[in-house]
Amino acid sequence: MLSFQKRVALIVGASSGIGRATTITLGKLGATVIAAGRRLDQLEQTVADLQNAGITASPMPLDVTNDHDIQAAMEQIATTFSRLDIVVNCAGILEETPFLEITADQWQKLLATNLTGAFTLSQKAARLMQQNRYGRIIHVSSILMGGVGRADVNVAHYTASKAGLVGLTESMAVELAPLGITVNAVAPGYIDTPMTAKIKDTPTVYQQVLDRIPLKRFGSSEEVTHAIAFLASESSSYITGTTLVCDGGYLAA
Ligand code: NAI
Repeated sequence: MLSFQKRVALIVGASSGIGRATTITLGKLGATVIAAGRRLDQLEQTVADLQNAGITASPMPLDVTNDHDIQAAMEQIATTFSRLDIVVNCAGILEETPFLEITADQWQKLLATNLTGAFTLSQKAARLMQQNRYGRIIHVSSILMGGVGRADVNVAHYTASKAGLVGLTESMAVELAPLGITVNAVAPGYIDTPMTAKIKDTPTVYQQVLDRIPLKRFGSSEEVTHAIAFLASESSSYITGTTLVCDGGYLAA
């Protein structure tokens, strides 16, 4: 059984999907959780549910494309908790455009959210973590990342951002190891969240995707949180720089 007693965890992109579920899972396992994101109403609802269950939780308004938000969040965490043990970067956007039609603005917006945001946030978080010589940073990549993953059509900018996260994970792991900070990624397959709602709303596409998944279903956000919780725990002490695939067998098929 994983335990996060006395651990402070910042979950970014916590207003829905995998981020919201991660906040709940880590909170239930004993962590003090900070639910960060842009949609304050939804963060406050999640936090209220956790507080009602006796879990220490607080909302944190934060846009990962805004350096000032990130800096303010780190200062508030340092003042309130004097430590930061775990960061889970779930913030992400998906947008479908054929490669030949992706504009510079679309490219920059997607990379700013999915990759630059994770870089800026983790850099500032690692500076705080190094004070206690302990940290767990988890990026949420994707199986749609090219390289060892499987690239998909019309998402070149998304694929590039998710492949970038894997590279970032490996470089950070090497440089932060001497500081007691491990850095890993999870690569979810098709997970039932608002991001994949469009696929489920198109029965023929949905069926084609299901046919390619050995377990013949989408995963739940909660199932991904079990992989994240392991990487965020002390049990993963000798694991750093790796990407844990959580895809119902999709990449193996
Ligand atoms: P989601 O759309 O529910 O979650 C994305 C979250 O990121 C939302 O809460 C959104 O508000 C937040 N976000 C977006 N831009 C932000 C910004 N600038 N600042 C702060 N927060 C921001 O969808 P889901 O599926 O939970 O996505 C979570 C992560 O998992 C994403 O990085 C996504 O790319 C990744 N992922 C999801 C898969 C799926 O099948 N659902 C598969 C592979 C990866």
